[in-house]
Amino acid sequence: MAKKLYIKTYGCQMNEYDSDKMADVLKAYDGMEQTDKPEEADVILFNTCSIREKAEDKVFSDLGRVRPYKLANPNLIIGVGGCVASQEGATIAQRAPYVDVVFGPQTLHRLPQLIDARRATGRTQIDISFPEIEKFDHLPKQEKATGTAFVSIMEGCSKYCTFCVVPYTRGEEVSRPLVDVLNEIHGLIKLGVNEVTLLGQNVNAYQGESEDGEVVDFAYLIQAVAAIDAIVRIRYSTSHPKEMSQRLIDLYGSTPKLVSHLHLPVQSGSDRVLAAMKRGHTALEYKSIIRRVRALRPDICVTSDFIIGFPGETDADFEATMKLIDDIGFDNSFSFLYSPRPGTPAAEMRDDTPHAVKAARLKRLQDRISEQEGGIAAAMLGTTQRALVEGISKKDSSELAARTDNNRVVNFVGTADLIGQFIELKITQVVRHTLRGEKV
Ligand code: SAH
Ligand code: F3S
Repeated sequence: MAKKLYIKTYGCQMNEYDSDKMADVLKAYDGMEQTDKPEEADVILFNTCSIREKAEDKVFSDLGRVRPYKLANPNLIIGVGGCVASQEGATIAQRAPYVDVVFGPQTLHRLPQLIDARRATGRTQIDISFPEIEKFDHLPKQEKATGTAFVSIMEGCSKYCTFCVVPYTRGEEVSRPLVDVLNEIHGLIKLGVNEVTLLGQNVNAYQGESEDGEVVDFAYLIQAVAAIDAIVRIRYSTSHPKEMSQRLIDLYGSTPKLVSHLHLPVQSGSDRVLAAMKRGHTALEYKSIIRRVRALRPDICVTSDFIIGFPGETDADFEATMKLIDDIGFDNSFSFLYSPRPGTPAAEMRDDTPHAVKAARLKRLQDRISEQEGGIAAAMLGTTQRALVEGISKKDSSELAARTDNNRVVNFVGTADLIGQFIELKITQVVRHTLRGEKV
């Protein structure tokens, strides 16, 4: 019988992607099949996140919960990967000595060797190095995909925003060569893929080597992908305002395959806070980007990330953020209270805003964005949208779920053979933020 693998993923899309690659690696190594029951697994992996304190705390409580399975199955391998592993390294094995392997986001392709070495030596194996782009050369080819797929184009981040651990846990920006990315996409097309999400911590910082040894940018990469007939739609995530070049913005006019959704993290609308965060742009510059994009693509949905309660954030700073939100009109966004992260510059900054004040600010911001989100949904009622059918609806297993260009999920009645196909959907019902439609 095939050995079983259980993976729990915390955090961002990069981690989701990495988890899929871990599964591919262990399938190629040992024919392992994934299970959603940790109690029957031969290998249990936690792909962790350290972006905020809460995310980090979960790992150790979850580790404690699977520990008893080791008594029942002494051959069980427990592994910790991802950003907590990257940051804590050996201290994980000190806090939880029953952990067998600790690996970082850039060493997941070495899992088989780490597991073998653990079995051979009986000692916990730790490898959290950053061997650059080696990972991609050692990953097995994806075997199954329909419709949409993620393609990693770069890794890491060199921006060093003062609040953020990513540059320390994932390393600095490294881009994959253009040909590698395009080859991967051609492979995915053979499996049935017609939409790609170009993935990276800062995709628009892409600086990939082309075939003739030149360095090409993200706009170039998108054009190269758009030139592939079988690719109907292109998404990307995540991007940085500082790298929204005019070349990239212009693509919203010339490249219909680029979807009408832009996730562009802004964090704050206060120039003072943006400077303290070291974001490298002002609120006005952010607005100028959105204005230029909307001039070319009036119906684009803009989503963002916000941090509330950054050290020293005053009422006036927060009002500036609310003003930016009113000026822009955001769709569904991610917003969290600032969480001090050990080793980052912001963790040393004075922070005397009471928690209750921060929590009230967060609620106000979330209510406002939710209102804007509802407005966008309501405006979609009666329209016809191109949508890619992604699978069975999460809400009702007798229905399907499809994603529109502006990144809205629409539930509708349809047959499973539509999964992976583009269809036209008429939006027939909007309940708060949830859309229902009919195939036309
Ligand atoms: N590359 C992206 C961000 C990736 S991290 C960018 O350009 O900004 C994802 C999000 O986590 C960030 O946008 C930020 O909103 C949030 N985040 C990061 N560090 C945080 C912290 N210390 N506290 C609260 N939120 C944080
Ligand atoms: Fe983090 Fe800023 Fe990079 S939020 S991922 S350091 S752009």
